[in-house]
Amino acid sequence: MARSKKSEWIEVFAPATVANCGPAFDTIGFSLDTLGDCLEARLVDKPGVHIAEITGTKGLSTDPTKNTAGIAAQETLKLAKSLSQGVEIRLHKQIPQGSGLGSSAASAVAGAYAVNILLGEPLSQEELLEPCLAAECAVSGYFADNVAPALLGGFVLIQNLKPLRLVRLPVPDKLIVTAVTPDYVLLTREARAVLPEKILLKQAVRQWANIGALVAALHQNDLKLLGEAMEDFIIEPVRAPLIPGFDRMKQAALAAGALGCAISGAGPTAFAITDDLTKAEKIAQRMQAGFAQVSLKSQAHIGRVSTQGARCLRGKNR
Ligand code: HSE
Repeated sequence: MARSKKSEWIEVFAPATVANCGPAFDTIGFSLDTLGDCLEARLVDKPGVHIAEITGTKGLSTDPTKNTAGIAAQETLKLAKSLSQGVEIRLHKQIPQGSGLGSSAASAVAGAYAVNILLGEPLSQEELLEPCLAAECAVSGYFADNVAPALLGGFVLIQNLKPLRLVRLPVPDKLIVTAVTPDYVLLTREARAVLPEKILLKQAVRQWANIGALVAALHQNDLKLLGEAMEDFIIEPVRAPLIPGFDRMKQAALAAGALGCAISGAGPTAFAITDDLTKAEKIAQRMQAGFAQVSLKSQAHIGRVSTQGARCLRGKNR
């Protein structure tokens, strides 16, 4: 009788992420230490990717070609030239879908990361980005400012997509992030469909000045400059109307002492920064009150930037 190739289950975690950081549309993102998706995986006899279970969300297909964990897992098998291998997955979602916190990216990263571990890590961290990008592209679009920080941790600048060139940026030591997610789904695809194809040069000048200032602020550990540099002159004015109550909520965050406040990724989550935990709690309350004014319940997450990215919680490498 042939011996079964089933391995022990391993479990991995991939963090939620904030893409764009205000002005840096599709180019800078960072990972959060407060929230993420977990994924269990093991090798099985039957070749291909099999999703046994998805918990924590409704409406995500267990068809591996229809969710990012499955697509990234399959693409990782392909890239590692291991298509004869079989992998079984249980996905445990903690990041709400369509929230602007990199939900699809975290699942993709968890899928790719787990398969690479099961195969004995034939691929480097940076090589793993390709399968993650393919998965993200299948559901949201071709951008890396969620998948790169979810995989690598910290702040990551996407200097170029093809070929992929990344620049890791420093994390200011006192940075505290308040992310508030209203109970409202906004799909990334929809939030990208409203974006202009062309912009005015004078808008571009203001925007790239702020992106430069943002990168300098990270290097100089200057949270006041970081907050100022978060102002987005191009994307936020077009996307904010898609998020009920956004403008008043942002004003409330700034009035409560936030150093800056912007849309997280494609929204509807908004994030604010500060260097003080007590202030962060007050900011969260005011942001939630802002959403409550338009009858939206919300969830607040206060935390630091995770410098770790994806990691193994159980099994090999522990
Ligand atoms: N940079 C992407 C966007 C991130 O803003 O559309 C999506 O989470």
